[in-house]
Amino acid sequence: MRPILVTSALPYANGSIHLGHLVEYVQTDIWVRFHKIRGRDCLYFCADDTHGTPIMIRARNEGITPETLVKRIHAEHVADFRDFLIGFDHYHSTNSEENRILSEEIYVTNRNAGHIHTEAVMQAYCVKDGIFLPDRFIRGNCPACGALDQYGDACESCSATYSPLDLKEAHCALCGTSPEQRESEHFFFKLGDFEPFLREWTRSGALQVQMANKLSEWFDAGLKAWDISRDGPYFGFEIPDAPGKFFYVWLDAPVGYMAASLSYFRQHGMDFDRYWRDPDQTEIYHFIGKDILYFHTLFWPAMLKGAGFRTPTGVFAHGFLTVNGQKMSKSRGTFITARDYLEQLDPEYLRYYYATKLAKGVDDIDMNLDDFVLRVNSDLVGKVVNLASRTAGFVHKHFQGRLSGDYPEDQGLFQLFLTEARSIAQHYHEREFSRAMRAIMALADKANRFVEEKAPWALAKENRMEELQDTCTVALNLFRLLMVQLHPVLPAMAEKTRVFLNLQDMNWSTTLLPIFGTAIQPFSPLMQRVDVKKVQAMVSASREMDSVPAVTSSAVVPEEKDIGITMETFMEVDLRVAKITHAETVEGADKLLRLVLDVGPLGVRSVLAGIRAFYTPESLLGRLVVLVANLQPRKMKFGVSEGMVLAAGDGSGKLFLIVPDSGAEPGMRVK
Ligand code: MSP
Ligand code: ZN
Repeated sequence: MRPILVTSALPYANGSIHLGHLVEYVQTDIWVRFHKIRGRDCLYFCADDTHGTPIMIRARNEGITPETLVKRIHAEHVADFRDFLIGFDHYHSTNSEENRILSEEIYVTNRNAGHIHTEAVMQAYCVKDGIFLPDRFIRGNCPACGALDQYGDACESCSATYSPLDLKEAHCALCGTSPEQRESEHFFFKLGDFEPFLREWTRSGALQVQMANKLSEWFDAGLKAWDISRDGPYFGFEIPDAPGKFFYVWLDAPVGYMAASLSYFRQHGMDFDRYWRDPDQTEIYHFIGKDILYFHTLFWPAMLKGAGFRTPTGVFAHGFLTVNGQKMSKSRGTFITARDYLEQLDPEYLRYYYATKLAKGVDDIDMNLDDFVLRVNSDLVGKVVNLASRTAGFVHKHFQGRLSGDYPEDQGLFQLFLTEARSIAQHYHEREFSRAMRAIMALADKANRFVEEKAPWALAKENRMEELQDTCTVALNLFRLLMVQLHPVLPAMAEKTRVFLNLQDMNWSTTLLPIFGTAIQPFSPLMQRVDVKKVQAMVSASREMDSVPAVTSSAVVPEEKDIGITMETFMEVDLRVAKITHAETVEGADKLLRLVLDVGPLGVRSVLAGIRAFYTPESLLGRLVVLVANLQPRKMKFGVSEGMVLAAGDGSGKLFLIVPDSGAEPGMRVK
């Protein structure tokens, strides 16, 4: 069988890994581990996707170089993946020498073959920030429906798509000034040159059916040339023979797959070309989210083809994660980072839960937090761990930790488990993990029924020692088979099982024969039940607090307590008139605006207010508001807030700032 090389999409280096990302890394990791424990030669690569404007801007905001930022995030990502047991063979970076060399090679070969042309384009440029603005960094009013404060490429209100040039009252999302239009020379990759090849590749079995259909739509719409250059300053690789021009991040990002493998192959004295030039010798699979299909099924194979490399054997897209049926949300506390999760919960709970949800299609998957607790507790703890925990004790108490000398009569269960293992393996191979989990749990039910029928606790009481030892031996053998079948999903628990049962390994092929006559180790709980309180703690820790009380009113009204407060208590609240001297959006916080307030004699305050959905920064400049001035400064995820701005609202989605009548002066008391 040919060796396989597998990748997951490269996470951007400007943010933390969250539970949405983990759908992909867990899915890929299970698939890779499955192949490895089946004895297949399989390598798994990934890297941080480090280039582009957002990363450059974030570094600038933090007052550090992009390289420093990228290094810090790399360490964070590596730790997150390690703790979720994602077993990359190598985790690299697109900001690496390997990636520069390969990106240049791919570009130059395509250029020399005539697949690149240049063209002058008009582009928004912010004079104040000194950069060309990507569409997402321009905001203004929708040219189609007039909705206020929309992105430069598409309207979230009416879904129209347009050029940022058409946006009304366009302004830079960073500083609010209106951008200039500047002409600049851009480089384009002629995707249309590859249409015949792409049509054929699409039908080669490399894609899921839904994806191939999507591609047909794109072919019908016509393949447009792709703009692969950006003007400096830009954090990325300079284009050969084009000073001041840089590769657009999406040009060098997928090359990161190759770069990660190159770095690994060099360390291990392996042949790069065997993997990347010769499709007869190896297989290459990319796991991606459905949002980045265009890049992986059109641009990427075309670039490879044009540069004389092989193309992927398969591209597997998955759907998006929702939590409790909705898009992950910071205010609901369901935008959960890998770290927030790990601080409360065992990574294997999530790996298992995702496995029960994952199939080979592109449907979105929902993580219902109640269901999560129930599933893990009832399946893993109630069915699997339970098998060992209710039998191991007897083995130690009565048989010096030894299993029966021969494998006992087991009603054909061991054989049944082996037969079923074949279809379970097939499910894993086809990425039908939810089917695999259902099949495994059906076996676990059978094993538990066996134990209940035999009732080892009764056998012990009645002193039927031989039967007791045999029952436990069968139960522990079945437990072992279940844990081998769950090994790709639960690698840490599989390892604990290996130690507990004194086994050489937990590989698929070594389970063909039962174990007997051997000693086992004392049993220690292999997994704890999910504690609902920890799930709640995780949600609270992830919740991005709004500093406007109206929005969180339901959360701050004390329950079942006296609601009345004394006049004295109320008088302790220092309310002041304040004037907004500066307002800006907060990177990464879709609800918040940062306001700088002039509070007269009390000085200047910086406040984070959850009003972004209701007010644009510009519309607030110079306005008077009411500030709770003697709140202790509060450290929030996005910085410190020195007070609260009052607003009216009932949580139904509208909000109105409380505004003093004209004539009031900053610093005046509100009584
Ligand atoms: N940097 C690009 C990928 C470049 S690959 C050459 C990127 N990065 S990302 O950080 O935004 O996403 C990384 C992967 O995680 C993507 O495949 C994306 O689809 C996936 N997911 C990000 N959020 C997700 C959910 N909420 N749910 C499921 N997958 C999600 O895209
Ligand atoms: Zn600007």
